[in-house]
Amino acid sequence: MQKRDVYLDNAATSHPKPECVLKAAYAAMTDFNANPGRSGHRRALEAARAVLAAREAVAAVLGAADPFCVAFAFNCTDALNLAIKGVLRAGDHVISTLLEHNSVLRVLSEMLRREEIELTLLAPRPDGFIDPEDVRRALRKNTRLIALTHASNVTGAIQPVAAVGQVAREAGVTFLVDGAQALGAMPVDVNALACQLYAFPGHKSLLGPQGTGGLYIAPGLELAPLREGGTGSSSESMLQPTERPERYESGTLNLPGIAGLGAGAEYVRKGLSQIFMREREVTTALYEGLREIAGVDVYAPDEEAARAGIVSFNAGDLTSAQAADYLDREGIAVRGGLHCAPGAHHFLGTLERGAVRASVGHATSFEDVEALLRAVKKMLREA
Ligand code: ALA
Repeated sequence: MQKRDVYLDNAATSHPKPECVLKAAYAAMTDFNANPGRSGHRRALEAARAVLAAREAVAAVLGAADPFCVAFAFNCTDALNLAIKGVLRAGDHVISTLLEHNSVLRVLSEMLRREEIELTLLAPRPDGFIDPEDVRRALRKNTRLIALTHASNVTGAIQPVAAVGQVAREAGVTFLVDGAQALGAMPVDVNALACQLYAFPGHKSLLGPQGTGGLYIAPGLELAPLREGGTGSSSESMLQPTERPERYESGTLNLPGIAGLGAGAEYVRKGLSQIFMREREVTTALYEGLREIAGVDVYAPDEEAARAGIVSFNAGDLTSAQAADYLDREGIAVRGGLHCAPGAHHFLGTLERGAVRASVGHATSFEDVEALLRAVKKMLREA
């Protein structure tokens, strides 16, 4: 029998996927393989029902009442591009942060380079959190968008999104949350966060296949689509339909991916409180275990409630790539290097060395954590 590897790279993509996700994706390519929303035959209707069920399941995890507020995308980056480019117009000011992933930073930086927007990037406080009052102070007359990660993909620090949402609401500014490391791993309610846009991947804590993701778009928010094309609706018109979700979903959908995502979201919806509590306990074991090892620097919030399931660290004098390679040889999957978030590494002082990131998921056990801790100690002895 093949030895089970220890998978601690759930922040990059979740593994393993639940059986129901595999079955749903398979059924979409066999039982009801057809183009949803195009033809009117039985198979196509069944495919369309699967897409609707997935939309409803994802909306429920987001706390959104209307499933048509969810637009499917290729991944979280695609959803963030839609959100940012769909909202901004020439001359707008944007407030974002150094903690963001390149899926936000690069989009905004390119727009800045082309002199299309003004940009303020806020640094976190020394404790790793963005101060909502800094956001308030950065507001300008032409601020149209505030973009903030729900949880840093490097430190796992859960940001004060509801408080920033309040600042945005009071200022009448659109608020975008990057939920890449949050949706499916912790309770989310887009109304409580006061966000009009919430971007998410399908393949991380929602446990769906890669190539899936989406964007919550609040009712009434006018957002330009990223791309135009066939939607299977209003086909007599050469203009993009205004109805949701078709306005944002041109071209044939990723039916197997979306069906799998729907099954994953439903699995998460039913078990969210257990998944959340369990991942928190396992993350605490990981954090405390690493903190106890002499020679290990841990980059994660001290407070348990402020930690998503991510603990980054460095060990001894090893670069993060050397450590990640060593751990891989020990059968433990983690991510080393930079994590597509240069501002976060700048803040941590790890731009050169990177950081080893261990990230937990719905199937991570205390034994997995023990295996990592043993391997890190062995690595330090041998270094
Ligand atoms: N954005 C993913 C990560 O942080 C891939 O690893």
